[in-house]
Amino acid sequence: MGNVNSSGLHAEILKALSPRSDSGLAEWMTARAHDLLDEIVRQGPPVDLRDWYAAPFSGALLCKILGLPYRDWRQLMSGLDLAFVTSPDAYDGCTANWDKDYAYVLDQLRTDRSRQSGPIRRLCELKDTEQDSRHGPGPTSGGLTDAQIAAFVTSLFGAVSTSAFLLHAVLALVRHPGTVARLRADPGLMESAVGELLRHTMSIGDGLPRIATADTELGDVLIRSGELVLVCVEAANFDPAVFGEPERLDIGRHPNPHLSLGAGRHYCPASALSCVHARVALTALLERLPDLRLAVLVDQLVWRTGYIKRLPERLPVLWGTPAAH
Ligand code: HEM
Repeated sequence: MGNVNSSGLHAEILKALSPRSDSGLAEWMTARAHDLLDEIVRQGPPVDLRDWYAAPFSGALLCKILGLPYRDWRQLMSGLDLAFVTSPDAYDGCTANWDKDYAYVLDQLRTDRSRQSGPIRRLCELKDTEQDSRHGPGPTSGGLTDAQIAAFVTSLFGAVSTSAFLLHAVLALVRHPGTVARLRADPGLMESAVGELLRHTMSIGDGLPRIATADTELGDVLIRSGELVLVCVEAANFDPAVFGEPERLDIGRHPNPHLSLGAGRHYCPASALSCVHARVALTALLERLPDLRLAVLVDQLVWRTGYIKRLPERLPVLWGTPAAH
Protein backbone atom coordinates (compact mmCIF):
# COMPACT_ATOMS: atom_id res chain seq x y z
CA MET A 1 0.00 0.00 0.00
CA GLY A 2 1.34 3.46 -0.88
CA ASN A 3 1.63 6.44 1.37
CA VAL A 4 -1.71 7.21 3.02
CA ASN A 5 -0.85 10.39 4.97
CA SER A 6 -3.53 12.82 5.99
CA SER A 7 -5.49 12.48 2.72
CA GLY A 8 -6.40 8.98 3.93
CA LEU A 9 -7.67 10.61 7.10
CA HIS A 10 -9.80 13.11 5.19
CA ALA A 11 -11.19 10.49 2.85
CA GLU A 12 -12.13 8.23 5.76
CA ILE A 13 -13.80 11.05 7.69
CA LEU A 14 -15.69 12.24 4.61
CA LYS A 15 -16.94 8.69 4.11
CA ALA A 16 -18.13 8.61 7.74
CA LEU A 17 -19.94 11.94 7.30
CA SER A 18 -21.82 10.82 4.20
CA PRO A 19 -23.20 7.35 4.95
CA ARG A 20 -25.24 5.56 2.28
CA SER A 21 -28.97 6.16 2.46
CA ASP A 22 -29.53 2.43 3.02
CA SER A 23 -27.10 2.30 5.96
CA GLY A 24 -29.96 2.13 8.49
CA LEU A 25 -28.62 5.27 10.20
CA ALA A 26 -31.94 7.15 10.01
CA GLU A 27 -33.71 4.23 11.72
CA TRP A 28 -30.95 4.10 14.34
CA MET A 29 -31.35 7.85 14.96
CA THR A 30 -35.13 7.49 15.26
CA ALA A 31 -34.67 4.78 17.91
CA ARG A 32 -32.19 7.00 19.86
CA ALA A 33 -34.57 9.98 19.69
CA HIS A 34 -37.40 7.86 21.12
CA ASP A 35 -35.13 6.42 23.86
CA LEU A 36 -34.34 9.97 24.96
CA LEU A 37 -37.99 11.01 24.74
CA ASP A 38 -39.05 8.00 26.80
CA GLU A 39 -36.88 9.33 29.61
CA ILE A 40 -38.10 12.91 29.12
CA VAL A 41 -41.75 11.79 29.24
CA ARG A 42 -40.99 9.66 32.29
CA GLN A 43 -39.56 12.70 34.11
CA GLY A 44 -42.45 14.95 33.09
CA PRO A 45 -42.34 18.70 32.42
CA PRO A 46 -40.40 20.91 32.75
CA VAL A 47 -37.27 19.42 31.18
CA ASP A 48 -34.15 21.11 29.83
CA LEU A 49 -34.09 20.06 26.19
CA ARG A 50 -30.43 20.92 25.77
CA ASP A 51 -29.17 18.52 28.40
CA TRP A 52 -31.75 15.80 27.92
CA TYR A 53 -32.28 15.88 24.17
CA ALA A 54 -30.18 18.06 21.84
CA ALA A 55 -26.77 17.31 23.41
CA PRO A 56 -27.18 13.53 23.84
CA PHE A 57 -28.82 13.20 20.42
CA SER A 58 -25.89 14.99 18.77
CA GLY A 59 -23.40 13.07 20.88
CA ALA A 60 -25.04 9.80 19.85
CA LEU A 61 -24.65 10.63 16.17
CA LEU A 62 -21.01 11.64 16.53
CA CYS A 63 -20.13 8.55 18.58
CA LYS A 64 -21.92 6.35 16.06
CA ILE A 65 -20.34 7.77 12.91
CA LEU A 66 -16.86 7.95 14.41
CA GLY A 67 -16.93 4.59 16.18
CA LEU A 68 -16.70 5.81 19.79
CA PRO A 69 -18.65 4.27 22.70
CA TYR A 70 -21.99 6.09 23.07
CA ARG A 71 -21.74 6.07 26.88
CA ASP A 72 -18.88 8.59 26.58
CA TRP A 73 -20.88 11.28 24.74
CA ARG A 74 -21.25 13.45 27.83
CA GLN A 75 -17.55 13.62 28.57
CA LEU A 76 -16.81 14.63 24.97
CA MET A 77 -19.58 17.16 24.54
CA SER A 78 -19.38 18.86 27.90
CA GLY A 79 -15.62 19.26 27.70
CA LEU A 80 -15.57 20.90 24.32
CA ASP A 81 -18.00 23.55 25.48
CA LEU A 82 -14.97 25.24 26.93
CA ALA A 83 -12.34 24.30 24.38
CA PHE A 84 -13.90 26.01 21.34
CA VAL A 85 -13.96 29.62 22.46
CA THR A 86 -13.53 32.74 20.37
CA SER A 87 -12.11 34.84 23.19
CA PRO A 88 -8.75 36.42 22.26
CA ASP A 89 -7.48 35.56 25.75
CA ALA A 90 -6.96 31.85 26.31
CA TYR A 91 -7.86 30.82 29.84
CA ASP A 92 -6.79 27.72 31.75
CA GLY A 93 -10.06 25.85 31.19
CA CYS A 94 -9.75 25.96 27.39
CA THR A 95 -6.50 24.07 27.14
CA ALA A 96 -7.35 21.76 30.05
CA ASN A 97 -10.54 20.77 28.26
CA TRP A 98 -8.87 20.19 24.95
CA ASP A 99 -6.12 18.14 26.64
CA LYS A 100 -8.64 16.00 28.52
CA ASP A 101 -10.69 15.16 25.43
CA TYR A 102 -7.65 14.71 23.23
CA ALA A 103 -6.24 12.26 25.81
CA TYR A 104 -9.54 10.38 25.84
CA VAL A 105 -9.46 10.01 22.03
CA LEU A 106 -5.79 8.93 22.12
CA ASP A 107 -6.76 6.19 24.58
CA GLN A 108 -9.43 5.01 22.14
CA LEU A 109 -6.85 4.90 19.36
CA ARG A 110 -4.41 2.91 21.44
CA THR A 111 -6.85 0.32 22.66
CA ASP A 112 -6.84 -3.18 21.21
CA ARG A 113 -7.95 -3.13 17.53
CA SER A 114 -10.54 -5.84 18.20
CA ARG A 115 -12.29 -3.50 20.66
CA GLN A 116 -12.49 -0.66 18.14
CA SER A 117 -15.14 -0.07 15.50
CA GLY A 118 -16.10 2.24 12.63
CA PRO A 119 -13.83 4.94 11.24
CA ILE A 120 -11.63 4.97 14.38
CA ARG A 121 -10.72 1.36 13.70
CA ARG A 122 -10.25 1.89 9.96
CA LEU A 123 -8.03 4.91 10.57
CA CYS A 124 -5.91 2.95 13.03
CA GLU A 125 -5.62 0.14 10.51
CA LEU A 126 -4.57 2.60 7.81
CA LYS A 127 -1.93 3.93 10.15
CA ASP A 128 -0.70 0.41 11.03
CA THR A 129 -0.50 -0.58 7.37
CA GLU A 130 1.38 2.55 6.56
CA GLN A 131 3.81 2.11 9.39
CA ASP A 132 4.49 -1.49 8.25
CA SER A 133 5.16 -0.38 4.69
CA ARG A 134 7.50 2.36 5.88
CA HIS A 135 9.52 -0.16 7.82
CA GLY A 136 9.75 -2.32 4.71
CA PRO A 137 11.57 -1.50 1.44
CA GLY A 138 10.54 1.56 -0.53
CA PRO A 139 10.39 5.33 -0.10
CA THR A 140 9.51 6.73 3.30
CA SER A 141 7.48 9.85 3.99
CA GLY A 142 5.50 11.41 6.81
CA GLY A 143 2.37 9.32 7.35
CA LEU A 144 -0.74 9.23 9.47
CA THR A 145 -0.09 9.56 13.20
CA ASP A 146 -2.15 9.03 16.35
CA ALA A 147 -1.76 12.74 17.04
CA GLN A 148 -3.33 13.69 13.68
CA ILE A 149 -6.22 11.30 14.10
CA ALA A 150 -6.85 12.41 17.69
CA ALA A 151 -6.80 16.11 16.78
CA PHE A 152 -9.24 15.55 13.92
CA VAL A 153 -11.67 13.45 15.94
CA THR A 154 -11.53 15.84 18.91
CA SER A 155 -12.20 18.81 16.62
CA LEU A 156 -15.20 17.10 15.08
CA PHE A 157 -16.81 16.98 18.51
CA GLY A 158 -16.35 20.72 18.61
CA ALA A 159 -18.17 21.02 15.28
CA VAL A 160 -21.40 19.83 16.84
CA SER A 161 -23.53 22.57 15.38
CA THR A 162 -26.21 19.90 15.19
CA SER A 163 -26.94 20.34 18.88
CA ALA A 164 -26.90 24.14 18.69
CA PHE A 165 -29.04 24.08 15.54
CA LEU A 166 -31.61 21.80 17.16
CA LEU A 167 -31.99 24.21 20.06
CA HIS A 168 -32.51 27.12 17.67
CA ALA A 169 -34.97 25.09 15.63
CA VAL A 170 -37.04 24.14 18.70
CA LEU A 171 -37.00 27.71 19.93
CA ALA A 172 -38.22 28.97 16.55
CA LEU A 173 -40.97 26.34 16.46
CA VAL A 174 -42.30 27.02 19.95
CA ARG A 175 -42.50 30.69 18.99
CA HIS A 176 -44.47 29.85 15.83
CA PRO A 177 -47.37 27.63 16.94
CA GLY A 178 -49.05 28.04 13.53
CA THR A 179 -46.00 26.47 11.90
CA VAL A 180 -46.09 23.56 14.35
CA ALA A 181 -49.77 23.00 13.54
CA ARG A 182 -48.92 23.01 9.81
CA LEU A 183 -46.15 20.44 10.40
CA ARG A 184 -48.41 18.21 12.43
CA ALA A 185 -51.03 18.34 9.67
CA ASP A 186 -48.44 17.64 6.96
CA PRO A 187 -45.29 15.88 8.31
CA GLY A 188 -44.02 15.72 4.70
CA LEU A 189 -43.15 19.41 5.12
CA MET A 190 -40.42 18.55 7.65
CA GLU A 191 -37.70 18.34 4.98
CA SER A 192 -38.25 21.87 3.69
CA ALA A 193 -38.93 23.03 7.28
CA VAL A 194 -35.39 22.03 8.25
CA GLY A 195 -34.00 24.08 5.34
CA GLU A 196 -36.07 27.09 6.37
CA LEU A 197 -35.12 26.69 10.05
CA LEU A 198 -31.47 26.61 8.99
CA ARG A 199 -31.98 29.84 7.04
CA HIS A 200 -33.97 31.61 9.70
CA THR A 201 -31.98 30.67 12.80
CA MET A 202 -28.26 31.15 13.01
CA SER A 203 -26.50 28.65 15.23
CA ILE A 204 -23.04 29.01 13.75
CA GLY A 205 -22.19 32.11 15.74
CA ASP A 206 -19.68 34.64 14.48
CA GLY A 207 -18.99 35.27 10.80
CA LEU A 208 -17.10 32.69 8.76
CA PRO A 209 -13.47 33.85 8.58
CA ARG A 210 -11.56 34.16 5.31
CA ILE A 211 -8.17 35.71 4.50
CA ALA A 212 -7.99 37.33 1.05
CA THR A 213 -5.16 35.75 -0.94
CA ALA A 214 -5.25 38.52 -3.56
CA ASP A 215 -6.67 42.02 -3.90
CA THR A 216 -10.36 41.45 -4.60
CA GLU A 217 -13.24 43.79 -5.35
CA LEU A 218 -16.48 42.78 -3.73
CA GLY A 219 -19.31 45.11 -4.69
CA ASP A 220 -17.78 48.55 -4.27
CA VAL A 221 -15.29 47.47 -1.59
CA LEU A 222 -11.66 46.65 -2.29
CA ILE A 223 -10.36 43.87 -0.04
CA ARG A 224 -6.59 43.85 0.05
CA SER A 225 -4.53 40.70 -0.05
CA GLY A 226 -3.93 39.42 3.48
CA GLU A 227 -6.99 41.14 4.99
CA LEU A 228 -9.41 39.23 7.19
CA VAL A 229 -13.02 39.05 6.02
CA LEU A 230 -15.80 37.82 8.28
CA VAL A 231 -18.66 36.58 6.13
CA CYS A 232 -21.99 37.47 7.74
CA VAL A 233 -24.17 34.55 6.72
CA GLU A 234 -27.24 36.06 8.38
CA ALA A 235 -27.13 39.04 6.04
CA ALA A 236 -27.14 36.69 3.05
CA ASN A 237 -29.92 34.55 4.52
CA PHE A 238 -32.13 37.60 5.03
CA ASP A 239 -31.32 39.28 1.72
CA PRO A 240 -34.66 40.59 0.41
CA ALA A 241 -33.33 40.41 -3.13
CA VAL A 242 -33.15 36.61 -2.78
CA PHE A 243 -35.81 35.72 -0.19
CA GLY A 244 -39.30 37.24 -0.38
CA GLU A 245 -40.39 38.43 3.10
CA PRO A 246 -37.11 37.20 4.62
CA GLU A 247 -38.25 37.79 8.22
CA ARG A 248 -41.12 35.35 7.79
CA LEU A 249 -40.51 31.70 8.80
CA ASP A 250 -42.07 29.92 5.83
CA ILE A 251 -41.53 26.17 5.99
CA GLY A 252 -42.83 25.76 2.45
CA ARG A 253 -40.25 28.20 1.03
CA HIS A 254 -38.94 27.06 -2.33
CA PRO A 255 -36.30 27.55 -3.56
CA ASN A 256 -34.32 28.20 -0.40
CA PRO A 257 -30.68 28.91 -1.29
CA HIS A 258 -29.59 29.69 2.29
CA LEU A 259 -25.92 29.71 3.25
CA SER A 260 -26.18 28.22 6.75
CA LEU A 261 -24.17 25.17 5.71
CA GLY A 262 -21.52 27.27 3.98
CA ALA A 263 -20.75 27.30 0.27
CA GLY A 264 -18.05 26.36 -2.20
CA ARG A 265 -15.10 24.21 -1.27
CA HIS A 266 -15.74 24.38 2.48
CA TYR A 267 -19.44 23.50 2.19
CA CYS A 268 -20.34 21.42 5.24
CA PRO A 269 -19.48 17.80 4.41
CA ALA A 270 -22.04 16.64 7.01
CA SER A 271 -24.89 18.67 5.48
CA ALA A 272 -27.09 15.75 4.36
CA LEU A 273 -26.44 13.84 7.58
CA SER A 274 -27.23 16.90 9.72
CA CYS A 275 -30.49 17.55 7.88
CA VAL A 276 -31.66 13.95 8.41
CA HIS A 277 -30.57 14.19 12.05
CA ALA A 278 -32.58 17.38 12.56
CA ARG A 279 -35.58 15.98 10.70
CA VAL A 280 -35.62 12.85 12.86
CA ALA A 281 -35.15 14.84 16.09
CA LEU A 282 -37.90 17.37 15.35
CA THR A 283 -40.38 14.80 14.03
CA ALA A 284 -40.01 12.65 17.16
CA LEU A 285 -40.21 15.70 19.42
CA LEU A 286 -43.45 16.99 17.90
CA GLU A 287 -44.91 13.49 17.94
CA ARG A 288 -44.14 12.81 21.60
CA LEU A 289 -44.49 16.24 23.24
CA PRO A 290 -47.84 17.83 22.32
CA ASP A 291 -48.33 21.55 23.01
CA LEU A 292 -44.60 22.03 23.34
CA ARG A 293 -43.76 25.45 24.77
CA LEU A 294 -41.04 27.31 26.63
CA ALA A 295 -41.07 26.92 30.41
CA VAL A 296 -39.46 30.35 30.87
CA LEU A 297 -39.90 33.73 29.24
CA VAL A 298 -37.83 33.98 26.09
CA ASP A 299 -35.92 36.92 27.65
CA GLN A 300 -34.81 34.64 30.47
CA LEU A 301 -32.83 32.38 28.17
CA VAL A 302 -29.11 32.82 28.80
CA TRP A 303 -26.99 32.86 25.65
CA ARG A 304 -23.44 31.62 25.68
CA THR A 305 -20.87 34.26 24.76
CA GLY A 306 -17.33 33.96 23.40
CA TYR A 307 -18.00 30.55 21.89
CA ILE A 308 -17.91 29.38 18.26
CA LYS A 309 -21.59 28.49 18.35
CA ARG A 310 -24.53 30.63 19.42
CA LEU A 311 -26.57 28.59 21.87
CA PRO A 312 -28.71 28.92 25.00
CA GLU A 313 -27.25 27.45 28.19
CA ARG A 314 -30.58 25.72 28.85
CA LEU A 315 -33.86 25.32 26.98
CA PRO A 316 -36.50 24.45 29.60
CA VAL A 317 -39.79 23.35 28.04
CA LEU A 318 -43.26 22.26 29.07
CA TRP A 319 -45.74 20.15 27.15
CA GLY A 320 -49.21 18.68 27.53
CA THR A 321 -52.37 20.54 28.39
CA PRO A 322 -51.70 23.55 30.63
CA ALA A 323 -53.09 23.03 34.15
CA ALA A 324 -56.31 24.95 34.85
CA HIS A 325 -55.91 27.61 37.56
C1 HEM B 1 -26.93 21.72 11.48
C2 HEM B 1 -25.69 21.41 11.71
C3 HEM B 1 -24.51 22.01 11.02
C4 HEM B 1 -24.33 23.27 10.52
C5 HEM B 1 -25.33 24.44 10.53
C6 HEM B 1 -23.00 23.31 9.95
C7 HEM B 1 -22.46 24.42 9.31
C8 HEM B 1 -21.25 24.44 8.67
C9 HEM B 1 -20.73 25.56 7.91
C10 HEM B 1 -21.40 26.92 7.77
C11 HEM B 1 -19.54 25.20 7.41
C12 HEM B 1 -18.62 26.05 6.51
C13 HEM B 1 -17.54 26.71 7.33
C14 HEM B 1 -16.73 27.68 6.50
O1 HEM B 1 -17.02 27.91 5.32
O2 HEM B 1 -15.78 28.26 7.06
C15 HEM B 1 -19.28 23.84 7.85
C16 HEM B 1 -18.14 23.12 7.56
C17 HEM B 1 -17.83 21.93 8.14
N1 HEM B 1 -18.68 21.13 8.89
FE1 HEM B 1 -20.57 21.55 9.40
N2 HEM B 1 -22.39 22.11 10.12
C18 HEM B 1 -23.26 21.28 10.79
C19 HEM B 1 -23.02 19.99 11.19
C20 HEM B 1 -21.81 19.36 11.09
C21 HEM B 1 -21.49 18.06 11.67
C22 HEM B 1 -22.46 17.19 12.47
C23 HEM B 1 -20.19 17.80 11.34
C24 HEM B 1 -19.34 16.62 11.66
C25 HEM B 1 -19.45 15.80 12.62
C26 HEM B 1 -19.71 18.91 10.55
C27 HEM B 1 -18.44 18.97 10.03
C28 HEM B 1 -17.98 20.02 9.27
C29 HEM B 1 -16.63 20.07 8.74
C30 HEM B 1 -15.52 19.03 8.93
C31 HEM B 1 -16.54 21.28 8.02
C32 HEM B 1 -15.30 21.84 7.30
C33 HEM B 1 -15.34 21.57 5.82
C34 HEM B 1 -14.17 22.20 5.11
O3 HEM B 1 -13.56 23.14 5.62
O4 HEM B 1 -13.88 21.76 4.00
N3 HEM B 1 -20.72 19.82 10.43
N4 HEM B 1 -20.35 23.40 8.60
